[in-house]
Amino acid sequence: MDIAATQEDALAKIAAAQDLEVVEGLRVAYLGKQGSVSGLLKTLGGMSPDERQVQGPRIHGLREAVTAALAERKAALEDAALERRLAAETVDLTLPAAEAPRGSIHPVSQVMDELAEIFADLGFAVASGPEIEDDWHNFTALNMPESHPARAMHDTLYFPSTAPDARRMLLRTHTSPVQIRTMLSQGAPLRIIAPGRVYRSDSDATHTPMFHQVEGLVIDKGIHLGHLKWTLETFLKAYFERDDIVLRLRPSYFPFTEPSVEVDTGYSFEGGRRVIGGSGDDPGHAWMELLGSGMVNRHVIAAAGLDPDEWQGFAFGVGVDRLAMLKYGMNDLRAFFDGDVRWLKHYGFSMLDMPTLSGGVGTPA
Ligand code: PHE
Repeated sequence: MDIAATQEDALAKIAAAQDLEVVEGLRVAYLGKQGSVSGLLKTLGGMSPDERQVQGPRIHGLREAVTAALAERKAALEDAALERRLAAETVDLTLPAAEAPRGSIHPVSQVMDELAEIFADLGFAVASGPEIEDDWHNFTALNMPESHPARAMHDTLYFPSTAPDARRMLLRTHTSPVQIRTMLSQGAPLRIIAPGRVYRSDSDATHTPMFHQVEGLVIDKGIHLGHLKWTLETFLKAYFERDDIVLRLRPSYFPFTEPSVEVDTGYSFEGGRRVIGGSGDDPGHAWMELLGSGMVNRHVIAAAGLDPDEWQGFAFGVGVDRLAMLKYGMNDLRAFFDGDVRWLKHYGFSMLDMPTLSGGVGTPA
């Protein structure tokens, strides 16, 4: 038995194997129970010690060489298969999408983008704060100390207190705490809007426990109510994309603004839908309460670390969901958060429909 010739023949066959099945077949043929190399190993038992001393290392060497060659060939074939698969699965990102994109931008997101665009043009940055807020930012710093009756109006969702002296945590009931956070972190002057989720324990056709507000805050020197009115008028004209927006300012009360102003806007019914525009005193028109606002209370400016004799400002807060309903004609707020794909398909926006002032903030492409 010429072991060297056997080894040469086996290694040549293994090197020539073109797929994993052939490699496996060769493994069985050489190293399996009935395999030829296994057969040679068995002959060692019948040899004389002298003969075994000569043949043993050769046969073991043959087995090791075949085992190594099989493993090497197997790895090479597996690598090649992976290379082929990767080459075949290459994605050409420059190709157009084979299918129209699914999914849509929720009207709330779209409206927030519209607001950011409109206010960016007026020099406002977008600020944000946490939805899990503490009592101090949500109430105390906004001139609502512990015993203030206005706190009761907020239907606040509190977290269970962890320790008697721990800061009381809650789900923010409005975006106004972002006023405090931004004044504290950025100082003055300041021009920001802060869109985001807010929470109140309240639920019916026009109230959901979670809804969206956008806060506006301007802090500068010599700011007065005229700036507030002009800003709101300019914003609402851009948002509703019409020039005949008429505002009515009514005295109101918020602990964090003084004076406080409730802003109404004229509207009429067109095709059973409320359409913003015109004066509420015009024939066929009425006034609708749209948002709360006012000059920032000097206690709030002081609580946020600024000198109220030096800095003044105005603030406003408006419901984003309501703004969306008024512009795009939905009538049930609850449907906003049901996640019904038919609703989303109907009222959602294409991800390519980015609001821009030049293209029309809300005009679908
Ligand atoms: N935070 C008030 C609310 O949620 C709205 C508001 C904001 C009023 C800013 C005045 C100034 O009702």
